[in-house]
Amino acid sequence: MINIDAENHVRGRSVYLDDIPELQGTLYALPFDLPTAHAHITSLHLDKARALPGVAAILTAADIPGENQIGGILPDEPLFAEGEVHFWGQPVGLIVADSDHICRKAARLIEAEYEALPVVTDPREAQQLGRLICPPRTFVIGDTAGAWSQCAHIFEGQTAVNGQEHLYIEAHGAYARMKEDGSVIISSSTQGPTAVQRTVAKVLDLPMHKVEVDTVRLGGGFGGKEDQATGWAVMAALAAQHLQGPVKLVLHRLDDMRMTGKRHPYEADFKIGLDEHLRIIAWEVTHYQNAGAAADLSTAVMERTLFHSTNAYHIPNVRATAYSCKTNLPPNTAFRGFGGPQGKFVIEAAIALAAERIGVSAAEIQQANLLRDGDEMPYGQIMQQTQARSTWAACMERYNYTGQRERVQAFNEQNTRYKKGMAVQPICFGISFTNTMMNHARALVHIYQDGSVVVSTGAVEMGQGVNTKLVQVAAQSLGISPGRVRIESTNTLRVANTSPTAASAGADLNGKALQTACAALMERLKKVAEAALGHSDVAIQNEVVMAGGKPSELGWEQLVLMAHQQRVSLSENGHYATPLIHFDKSKEKGHPFAYHVYGTAITIVTVDCLRGTYTFDSVDVVHDFGNSMNMAVDLGQIEGGLVQGIGWMTLEEVAYNAQGRLLSNALSTYKIPDIYSVPKSIRIASLETEGHDLAILKSKAVGEPPLMYGLGAYFAIREAIRAFNPGADLKVDAPYTPEKVLLDLYRSPSSQGT
Ligand code: MTE
Ligand code: HPA
Ligand code: MOS
Repeated sequence: MINIDAENHVRGRSVYLDDIPELQGTLYALPFDLPTAHAHITSLHLDKARALPGVAAILTAADIPGENQIGGILPDEPLFAEGEVHFWGQPVGLIVADSDHICRKAARLIEAEYEALPVVTDPREAQQLGRLICPPRTFVIGDTAGAWSQCAHIFEGQTAVNGQEHLYIEAHGAYARMKEDGSVIISSSTQGPTAVQRTVAKVLDLPMHKVEVDTVRLGGGFGGKEDQATGWAVMAALAAQHLQGPVKLVLHRLDDMRMTGKRHPYEADFKIGLDEHLRIIAWEVTHYQNAGAAADLSTAVMERTLFHSTNAYHIPNVRATAYSCKTNLPPNTAFRGFGGPQGKFVIEAAIALAAERIGVSAAEIQQANLLRDGDEMPYGQIMQQTQARSTWAACMERYNYTGQRERVQAFNEQNTRYKKGMAVQPICFGISFTNTMMNHARALVHIYQDGSVVVSTGAVEMGQGVNTKLVQVAAQSLGISPGRVRIESTNTLRVANTSPTAASAGADLNGKALQTACAALMERLKKVAEAALGHSDVAIQNEVVMAGGKPSELGWEQLVLMAHQQRVSLSENGHYATPLIHFDKSKEKGHPFAYHVYGTAITIVTVDCLRGTYTFDSVDVVHDFGNSMNMAVDLGQIEGGLVQGIGWMTLEEVAYNAQGRLLSNALSTYKIPDIYSVPKSIRIASLETEGHDLAILKSKAVGEPPLMYGLGAYFAIREAIRAFNPGADLKVDAPYTPEKVLLDLYRSPSSQGT
């Protein structure tokens, strides 16, 4: 089935936040900040700006009727800074005016006095100072202290991995309008309409039933709109309430880049121990997460880092600790993989280092340690239907790993200026929100008397194709053509108390709720058909009622009309909560994931050893889709995720100066992959399996896992550098920008050698 948005996207007809027709009298809002990352505000002079013709209001913390608080998990983030500023880009207030142009003019008239406070941008420094978002957490299995004596090889090291700008094509935005009874309706480009609703209610001092949030689709979210869409929507709503009129707030790209958080940069210390058969016996890791100035989702992201700190490997003795470190940067947030990629990066770095020191390929170590059914993860889950070894084997075989490796070696022997590197990257990603209580969803289905169907769920379409999958689920469950099904916007009045569309679980959770609703409707319709046809064995297939396996004269439209005339309800609200999952934080043990997604990718890179530039020859993937319900959509997710992961590992360098000011604040200074930097060849094959019962129609979640294939890009480059300069003392510090590659190509040997 073709993506239902494809035609409108191509024709430019799809409606994004800024395309919503504006009501007469709509005002425009612009948040303003101070040019400092940490300061005590002594005075704020707004009079000149307020006096500018066309300015309707300038709102600050003093104008908030409810709480000045937007923290999603911990209440530590004011909507508007009060007294102190904690990061460069933190909103101090909101200008509302007749036009965006006037807002910008007014912003230049605002003056403030403030006393600078010390700025901390480094997570290790923050940890030393005791500046933590939450207490550290440790996952333990076995006994690492007792295991080192069994190890033939022990290596220690450090890693650093930078953040990543989401760069969704549509910047943040919201449009708020008042209703007659003082309630407010907000269109918001958010992954979490309920989070927006709850927070607007808190800040505006309204009950949640007076706040309606509506989302048609996002021009990309990638996690950046899971939590951080909320503040902008609250500002628009606050201004609408204050002025009793429609207010729109759409961030300019540069403000969006400057004011919002990104993927969390992490640093880590590790110690790995292997036996003589290359089995990893012990693994100790300490993660330092750079959370930024407020919690946002950092506690949950940190948790997922711990869950994924052994990637696709079985390690009997593990001690993994994580600190969420509070710095004066914009609060970092969800980004595809949600801390998982940062966790996996460290174990892959340790394996790469061990391989170099022992003198084997990293692939030998990886392969020796892949998960099997029955293995226990450090967090207590016993692995079932594990596909780590099967995707690995299929990948090796299908893409002739040995032959490709020989070609790489031969190339390197024959060439001095160019070197190739190769990396294999297995992945294992847990599906479910790590916070068990978030794993539920609802779907509202109306069948109209003409047989057409409308579906509302909590799922937000952000380009990942969830609405297309929901059409497929409804059509299949009801036995009708997809053309009869329409997906409505995501709206808090129609579907309440939703979790954000995140954790790759959008299609699973909302799809399963939709199946529940459709199944209930089917039961009712079947009873009507049974009575009409005098047959006890009826089903609907291709819009025809089948009786005893044979087509009857009764079609979908007649059946629906008949049911309506018999006063049978044609509406249903389905609910789904993932079964089996649980987690006990006091023990850090449980069964947090419905299932895991697996895959293996082989990456080959060619490095220009004169320039430090590189091109990716190929990425070859075998992915565990389960039984994909829409291969075109799923392949798009793999390709997009892979390229986004390669970007994170190679080109994309978020840079702040020591004062906490973002330097990579535009597309001229922040480089993302373009058509020239993507791999020349990407091959993706599906592992043949039956799929998983807890996946929608056995089609596994696909949104985040492929990003982690991108880790292979880093380690392939490292291998090419080693081929050119075998003794170089290489740090592990992603991304591998061409500048860093060039420095490493000519780096002197380490004192220890390799
Ligand atoms: N694909 C597109 N095109 N745009 C996006 O914003 N977000 C990713 C992924 N794929 C994203 C995307 C992230 S971070 C998640 S969690 C999932 O989609 C969310 O959607 P799903 O749960 O329906 O897979
Ligand atoms: N993944 C993604 N988003 C989330 C999660 C998670 O596990 N928990 C809360 N938000
Ligand atoms: Mo995705 S990072 O869970 O929105």
